[in-house]
Amino acid sequence: MNLQIITIDGPSGVGKGTLALSLANYLSLNYLNSGSIYRAVAYLSELENINTDNIKEIISLTSTLNIRFITDNKEFKIICNDQDITAEINNEECATRASIISSNIDVRKSLIDIQRSFCKEPGLIAEGRDMGSVIFRNSQKKIFLTASNEIKAQRRHKQLKQKGINVSLPHLIEELDNRDSRDVSRKISPLVIPSDAYIIDTDKLTINEVFDKTLKYINN
Ligand code: DC
Repeated sequence: MNLQIITIDGPSGVGKGTLALSLANYLSLNYLNSGSIYRAVAYLSELENINTDNIKEIISLTSTLNIRFITDNKEFKIICNDQDITAEINNEECATRASIISSNIDVRKSLIDIQRSFCKEPGLIAEGRDMGSVIFRNSQKKIFLTASNEIKAQRRHKQLKQKGINVSLPHLIEELDNRDSRDVSRKISPLVIPSDAYIIDTDKLTINEVFDKTLKYINN
């Protein structure tokens, strides 16, 4: 029997994380937050003073990478090599570094197996940029979330503020724009809408409405 794989892709700040986590809990499926894997590599490389263009050293970090997610009661923690790095990777600097590192073909290749290893019984909710287009191309249900740049930045701003991180809104808009255009324009596995994806424009929808729409699509 094929495992149930549901992919959720989209640019930064569209609410992929919230949706994917709620769905994984609701459907009791495994959960993969692929962005955290790129962020973990970005974080570790920074800790070890490895430049973003030193691909050989970066890849050697990925070979010993051990990532797991704790997703109890909507709490989300990223454990990397037995250390909780959730707070360390949850900032725009780390995201930007992750975006730069992720544009390299060999880095991406070195992280394919670890991402696919999350696909176990009874199934998987995988979120990121290339889940439906590359990593789980055969998934039965592909969702692609979109939102306008302004709304994305506002949401991300609110999220960071709740975590006690203060960033100016115009600065955040600029950072998100830069990151999204890098993710869309890179040569390998760019952010694209899979041809068989169900697209949800989240601009005028609440989190619950996006959740309900997605569930309807999955159950159809
Ligand atoms: O989803 P996120 O914001 O945590 O992702 C951080 C960066 O990691 C994103 O800007 C690009 C990269 N990324 C990627 O290239 N492919 C993925 N599947 C997920 C993230």
